Amino acid sequence: MGEEETVLVRVRTPDRELEVEVPYQEGMTLLDALLWIKEHEAPDLQFQYSCRNAQCGTCAVLINGEAGLACERRLEPGEEVTVEPLRHLPVIRDLVVDWREVTGRLRPLAPRTHLDWFRRLEPDRAERLHELRSCIECLCCVVECPVIRAGSTRNPGPTVLRKLAEESEKWDRTPRLEGVDVYACTTCHRCAEVCPKDIDIPKKAVEAVRARLRELGLGPLEEHREVGERAVRTGRSVERKDECFLEECAGEHGSGDVTALFFTGCLVDYRLPETGRALVRLAEELGFRLVIPEDQVCCGSPLLRTGQRDRAERLAFRNLEAFQRVDPDVIVTVCAGCGATLKNDYPELLGERFEWEVLDVTELLVELRAHERGFEHPEEVVVTYHDPCHLKRGQGVHREPRRLLKSVEGVEFREMREPDRCCGAGGGVRAGLPELARLMSDVKARMAEEVGADVLTTVCPFCEYNLREGVERCGVDVKVPNLTVLLARSL
Ligand code: SF4
Ligand code: SF4
Ligand code: FES
Repeated sequence: MGEEETVLVRVRTPDRELEVEVPYQEGMTLLDALLWIKEHEAPDLQFQYSCRNAQCGTCAVLINGEAGLACERRLEPGEEVTVEPLRHLPVIRDLVVDWREVTGRLRPLAPRTHLDWFRRLEPDRAERLHELRSCIECLCCVVECPVIRAGSTRNPGPTVLRKLAEESEKWDRTPRLEGVDVYACTTCHRCAEVCPKDIDIPKKAVEAVRARLRELGLGPLEEHREVGERAVRTGRSVERKDECFLEECAGEHGSGDVTALFFTGCLVDYRLPETGRALVRLAEELGFRLVIPEDQVCCGSPLLRTGQRDRAERLAFRNLEAFQRVDPDVIVTVCAGCGATLKNDYPELLGERFEWEVLDVTELLVELRAHERGFEHPEEVVVTYHDPCHLKRGQGVHREPRRLLKSVEGVEFREMREPDRCCGAGGGVRAGLPELARLMSDVKARMAEEVGADVLTTVCPFCEYNLREGVERCGVDVKVPNLTVLLARSL
């Protein structure tokens, strides 16, 4: 007989720390392991469970620092796993937390009269609300929300926003917001990523509620309205200062078998033209044809995220004409927000008319095997990378930037503690609630400092701006260039 297979389970609670070798059994879950510990090692260990089937939400804990259901998490033989109580909630005992702070905010959002309880939900409404109503109130989303983790109380938690959305269709002109700030969400999609029921809270709840408030004439915030009106009037969501990348570089650059249409985005066009110039250099050096149409406009992302879908639709149709004139092999973006909007929202807004593949610049470069060519940075630097939410969770792109960075000679790549934690720039937060964006970017500045980075790079001009201000405010000596710029410098 071979040696018995085990799993090493560490239980860390404010009351105690346990480290137990649990005999492994096929199909074992973390909850099974906790039950074994209770039976054999620590009879007084406190934790909650009921359905053992991912339906009641009571067994949620932190598993290796991330919220999840203990009854759903399968263990592997030889694995080491750390279990802690959900963060930000008062601990009653061991792994048991007091949820009332959050769940207590859910009820007043859905006031019931006696008659409501017995009224049958209309079939189309039932279908529409099915996803939102599948919540099991496990609170995994709440403890992972980066707004809450930064210490802000403006966002009451994703599941509360979800509840608000359920009710929002019935609102007349006086919705019961109960102090809930629907604009204190960066649409980072972290809540959707950890939700065991796959509820798309940012889109189905946050953006939907914001759109409903606009319908009722109660939203968006003044700053968002200004951005929306400017984008429709001028084609750009930010005001022009001196430079304009499109005026300088519209036309064709480089040559090769692949024709890429460069969708520049508002910030590159009016604020960060060096990022656009860097992509032009990369096209010339790596051998692909880059076409930059002068008549392209804002993708509409800041409008969609703040509930101004009607305005975003008008911009999408203007961009469609520009795309049709070039008819490229691919559309390339250097902004996570533009890329996510083109990939995820344009097929919905434009239907089958939108027929092009969209690639983030890092995807295009890896497809062209740029990482095999070899880059060399002018000086030796320690580089860390921030995953923009709309690139990692919005487009599933996180390996490509790292692959490129690791191919640059002179770059020592160091991963920061939570590279994909939101920096606070998205979802209209930077424009509408700048103090919240500042709070969140300071958290990231400290993470870059912790890892001893000289350079903090990313692939999103909004993140870049926000992070740059964060490091300056915190006095952290780190440069914040777009990855495209870093690569062009290393040619
Ligand atoms: S999208 Fe991000 S900021 Fe918004 S509620 Fe979800 S986790 Fe929080
Ligand atoms: S929305 Fe998802 S993660 Fe949040 S409480 Fe409901 S089931 Fe849990
Ligand atoms: S025990 Fe019910 S969800 Fe895990």
